[in-house]
Amino acid sequence: MSKKTSAAATSSNSNVTVTDNVSGKESTFPILTGTEGPPVIDIRRLYAETGYFTYDPGFVATGSCESKITYIDGDNGILLHRGYPIEQLAENSDFLEVCYLLLYGELPTSDQKSEFDRAITLHTMLHEQLTNFYRGFRRDAHPMAIMCGVVGALSAFYHDSTDISDPHQRMVASYRMVAKMPTIAGWAYKYSLGQPFIYPRNDLDFAENFLHMMFATPCEDYEINPVIAKAMDRILILHADHEQNASTSTVRLTGSSGANPFACISAGIASLWGPAHGGANEAVLNMLREIGSKENIPNYIKKAKDPDDPFRIMGFGHRVYKNFDPRAKIMRETCHSVLDELDIRDEPLLDLAMELERIALEDEYFVDRKLYPNVDFYSGIIFQALGIPTTMFTVLFAVARTVGWIAQWNEMIEDPSQKIGRPRQLYTGADRRDHIPISERS
Ligand code: SDX
Repeated sequence: MSKKTSAAATSSNSNVTVTDNVSGKESTFPILTGTEGPPVIDIRRLYAETGYFTYDPGFVATGSCESKITYIDGDNGILLHRGYPIEQLAENSDFLEVCYLLLYGELPTSDQKSEFDRAITLHTMLHEQLTNFYRGFRRDAHPMAIMCGVVGALSAFYHDSTDISDPHQRMVASYRMVAKMPTIAGWAYKYSLGQPFIYPRNDLDFAENFLHMMFATPCEDYEINPVIAKAMDRILILHADHEQNASTSTVRLTGSSGANPFACISAGIASLWGPAHGGANEAVLNMLREIGSKENIPNYIKKAKDPDDPFRIMGFGHRVYKNFDPRAKIMRETCHSVLDELDIRDEPLLDLAMELERIALEDEYFVDRKLYPNVDFYSGIIFQALGIPTTMFTVLFAVARTVGWIAQWNEMIEDPSQKIGRPRQLYTGADRRDHIPISERS
């Protein structure tokens, strides 16, 4: 799907030599350099050459793939999608333009954009039998559980786009995933309310349609606030892709076995659900409600700093960003504009969040560990202002991130060097031992 838009990794003349102080053997490994960011040591032959595995729980210093899609400079708070800064995309693009960019590698021409928008619009409906899947869930089921189930079930309906070796079928599956997620999400919300499903409308754009399917009823016309729709569109852009995060790595690993795209996206949704990842936006709101007032902030900061206390300031910290998450800055600005538009002058949760941010950013514990607000810190406050229930926050994240997952999945399938992902381990279990009959066990 992607067109060649930048240099491939180059094997520079430089390399590293590893000296094994046990055997005295020296082994040399090439250094690969990319367009931006740290070079990498190509260790594909490490075990063959040295008999050693690497050991890197959480993959803190491990590159899993070569990619042309997203670049993050965590030290300087930079996020680029196909080379374009997130700030410029958030200001000048709409979500479907960013989707096209992520999928194809270039910004669309006017004709390409119109054709893409129309193609996505024509894929927003769901097979009618999928409505039956919702009725198997309790009304109070967490909507992320419904998302995992219904998205995984798509492979039982759209057999004509599951052959991953066929580029056309991959493209159809990609369009279907991007287009149908708002419908699946909107219906999950409606199901939780006991309200009828609202079908997508072809005269609405992506964000408008999503709001329509979330909030319209058959009883009266639903008037879309253009400021709210613009804010939703911008929030979708901010969540579209983010390099090799946990859920994207889950999609890549799932896809590396040849699993169909719908199953891969369902796996990504499951990974995103965790509170350390996409579930953090829901956790931030719950945390702010628990803190309750500015007077309680010092006590919770103390809990966050206590190594024996599992409490963390949700929405703070990031594996890659050791500076401000650029998305958090844009999200904070969007938060103020949404609250102004909705004439919400006194939002205690926003006041609390801003005071928490101020105190944390002055505290040496957070400063020393370079812990800054991430994309999730303000998003929940906006979602709440839009009337979206807390349990739907991560669902919105999944709706946006689907295009990133599917773009990365396509890139992996098209990568000639890709193979099934199968990490090794450091085994510290029992030595070999023989079975003992139960009658002889004490
Ligand atoms: C997302 O990867 C991505 O790109 C993800 C994402 C995306 O778009 O896909 O950006 C989306 O998932 C954003 C992150 C959302 N999660 C949260 O907000 C949950 C709260 N944050 C933390 O759980 C944590 O910061 C992580 C999980 C985000 C990152 O964890 P790391 O990189 O493994 O860092 P760490 O746990 O090793 O922490 C380093 C130190 C530790 O202290 P010490 O052991 O050195 O004394 O910082 C502390 C941690 O205890 N720390 C925090 C903290 N986050 C880290 N202390 C208090 N509050 C926090 N939030």
